[in-house]
Amino acid sequence: MKVNEGALHLTSDEQAMLAGEAGPGVAKAMEIVVALGQIYGARSLVPVSSVQVSGVSYKNLGEAGLEFLESWAAQGASVRVPTTLNPAGMDLASWNELGFSQKFARRQQAVVDAYISLGIMPTCTCTPYLVGHVPSLGQHIAWAESSAVSYANSVLGARTNREGGPSALAAAITGVTACYGLHLVQNRLAQIVVDVQCPIGSQADLGALGYLVGRAVRKQVPYFRIDDWVPGRGDLKTLGAAMAASGAVALYHVEGVTPEAMAGNVVQRGAESLVIGSLSAGYAALDGACEQIDLVSIGCPHASLAELRAAADLIEGCRLKTTLWITTARATREAAEKEGLVARIEDAGGRVVADTCMVVAPVDELGFRTMATNSAKMAFYAPAHSGLEVRFGSFEQCLEAATSGKWPRTQTS
Ligand code: F3S
Repeated sequence: MKVNEGALHLTSDEQAMLAGEAGPGVAKAMEIVVALGQIYGARSLVPVSSVQVSGVSYKNLGEAGLEFLESWAAQGASVRVPTTLNPAGMDLASWNELGFSQKFARRQQAVVDAYISLGIMPTCTCTPYLVGHVPSLGQHIAWAESSAVSYANSVLGARTNREGGPSALAAAITGVTACYGLHLVQNRLAQIVVDVQCPIGSQADLGALGYLVGRAVRKQVPYFRIDDWVPGRGDLKTLGAAMAASGAVALYHVEGVTPEAMAGNVVQRGAESLVIGSLSAGYAALDGACEQIDLVSIGCPHASLAELRAAADLIEGCRLKTTLWITTARATREAAEKEGLVARIEDAGGRVVADTCMVVAPVDELGFRTMATNSAKMAFYAPAHSGLEVRFGSFEQCLEAATSGKWPRTQTS
């Protein structure tokens, strides 16, 4: 591959990788990293300390994607930095009892095995930061899952662009990524100041807010001013995921809350202004009209232990009338099991499902047609990706729907 030396400088180690001295699998990875650097005008590559790879569900990858991974692994490639995986298309342990077909399960396991042979940890979660993979302020990483990218940049202050599946994998194999975009301090300033002038009372409100702001600002960096609101990290996880779905927001700041906003001025001179006075347009866009609910989905992004505790408290002693799946990381499920939370949820008739979610699972195989969710990201994607009719509302409304089988009539917002 020919590198324009004037624009993109490679170290001697990087040049050796590109020349194939570490094998064809590494050379192929370096070609991807360098091509991206050239496209985006990077002057150099930067070492990354952590990678998160997307493109794991066989539903999305298909046979061509699986062959691509297997052939890369066969070229002797292996990751050089700690690398985690996004959710797969099924619970890797309980797929059979949850209704996934053997045919799908075989191909899905082959995808995960190909990633394992590349040295990747099969975490199968969109919340690696909840299971011990927590980059620190200013650290360069290469993450692919959009909600995790938003969390890493905004809440943790790490630096990553929104990688694609192959580019994240290339960064993992080479240990470097092209230094452009959000790796550079000057690109991390906010271009839009968002004044939120309506009350925020629930996670669903945050989802509706994130939906509206993402739709308005697209790829830009917003800076939030929200009076009388002290968000927890779970709130920020919800807000960022919604903006990453309706727009392509990879970084946001919250006045007095997020680390870069706390450290100094992060608003660009001449920034535009956006006022949010009501969330009703967000609810109208995300909430459907169906009354019967086949499935209640909680855990997008994957549920934290705190969310599992809250769910166990709300449904304990109930007998659920419809399917409730709370999706989470396997490590979080194991912690919840030790605390007795899984038993409390499953005794009521719910399931704590690991490794997957309702956007990347082959929902048509499972027979669900309608779904309730408290996640704006899930409500945004599920109709198109999984063919589901969706009700969107608060955590409490969703769990009420699980106990009655119907969407509750009273709206909380
Ligand atoms: Fe995670 Fe699936 Fe939502 S990957 S962010 S649970 S759509």
